[in-house]
Amino acid sequence: MKIGVIGAGFVGLVTAACLANNKNKVKCIEIEKNKIKLLKDKKLPFYEPGLKKLFDKKFNKTLFFTDNYDDVNNLDLIFITVGTPYNTKGVNLKYIENSIKDILKNYEDKKLLIIIKSTVPPGTTAYLRKKFFLQHKNLTLINNPEFLREGSAVDDFLKPDRIIFGTNQKKENLKQVIRLYKPFKCRRFVLSYEESEIAKYYSNSFFASLISFSNQFAYLSDSLPNCNFKKINETLMSDRRLNIKSSVPALKNYLVPGIGFGGSCFPKDVLGIKKTLDNKKIHNSLIKSILKVNSEAINHGLKIIKRNFDKRKIICILGASFKENSDDTRKSRTISIASKLKQLNFKFDIIDPEVKKIGSFKCQPFNKKSIKRYEYFILMTKWQEFSGLYKISFASNVKIIDFRNFFEVDKFKSNKIKLISLGSSALS
Ligand SMILES: NC(=O)c1ccc[n+]([C@@H]2O[C@H](COP(=O)([O-])OP(=O)(O)OC[C@H]3O[C@@H](n4cnc5c(N)ncnc54)[C@H](O)[C@@H]3O)[C@@H](O)[C@H]2O)c1
Repeated sequence: MKIGVIGAGFVGLVTAACLANNKNKVKCIEIEKNKIKLLKDKKLPFYEPGLKKLFDKKFNKTLFFTDNYDDVNNLDLIFITVGTPYNTKGVNLKYIENSIKDILKNYEDKKLLIIIKSTVPPGTTAYLRKKFFLQHKNLTLINNPEFLREGSAVDDFLKPDRIIFGTNQKKENLKQVIRLYKPFKCRRFVLSYEESEIAKYYSNSFFASLISFSNQFAYLSDSLPNCNFKKINETLMSDRRLNIKSSVPALKNYLVPGIGFGGSCFPKDVLGIKKTLDNKKIHNSLIKSILKVNSEAINHGLKIIKRNFDKRKIICILGASFKENSDDTRKSRTISIASKLKQLNFKFDIIDPEVKKIGSFKCQPFNKKSIKRYEYFILMTKWQEFSGLYKISFASNVKIIDFRNFFEVDKFKSNKIKLISLGSSALS
């Protein structure tokens, strides 16, 4: 099949490379000059495990890059994967609308499927159809939310948990996209536009709410003596109603207290659904609380830092990306913590295996030798590289604040290392 993917971001590039690997011919359209130059030079604009291998294999064979829409009439279907950032007025649909306008400028009446993969607030796909598509009888518009997670995006795309097709048009219009997704083994759902859009927000808000839920209780156990939140969490995990097998960590990845969620999706999608509920005058205090608890996580973390670290020594901040196995720093909690520490006149360095710069702060690569010179550490991102910290023989006494409940307490038995985990009596 001949496929167009609009936007070579995290979702677009992964979609394009994975589909190009499935015997399709894929053209990726990107308007940002620096990005398209990199891509045409066979370079990726970001780090994502497994992507480079697919990209190199299919580059200029079944995977092509362009900065224009000239070729839209030669395509069978087009995925729109442009950003939908949140601003004060709500989710900004400008990039989606511009890409549709550019498609239509070049479009000559022929059968074509346009698929919205970007995350859009409920009601958007119907609105877009009414605004742009009603006079084009040969154009079909579908909503097909994407659930991949950065850091495991290629794997998630190739082995999805579910595929959702949202349509308010005739089901037979879905034939081609159903055929395209045939190699993927998972459950399919044919829903309305609105159900499909809500399903995406339902999922992201659910996982974000687990993080804030866990944090709410972690703040309490930090304020009391004798608490180890890992143990408290295990009591919940053993509840058979949750059906968590120990081999499948599922909820365990989200019901973990810490410094809160960042990244390009959870913060903007929870805000997006809050705004949608606001607009519809529907009670939304539960959703608002997810954000409130998340923003409190930074102040809570600062209290722990102030209690344990003095300003004369340099702190080593471990991790800049919003999560492990990614170099994405959008809404990373490290930037929030680093900015506050700077205001408070703390001195710090930031170490990250992939990120070179975050905001105005330069990062250093991870190096076991150079790390020995620090006495204070704050763990912000769960990079595997940091997991062996307990094995390092430090010259002096060391304090580690674990903001992700990443380290196993039992491994830190050495007298020289004091491990302080958020949620475990850190402020009692
Ligand atoms: N990043 C994720 O993990 C993830 C996961 C699931 C869903 N989503 C959703 O997918 C969408 C894209 O997210 P992302 O992280 O890939 O965004 P991104 O910002 O990384 O990429 C978007 C790309 O689209 C390009 N673009 C913008 N307007 C364009 C146009 N008119 N024509 C061609 N290219 C254009 C931008 O230059 C950019 O490279 C968002 O709605 C997001 O919520 C993201």
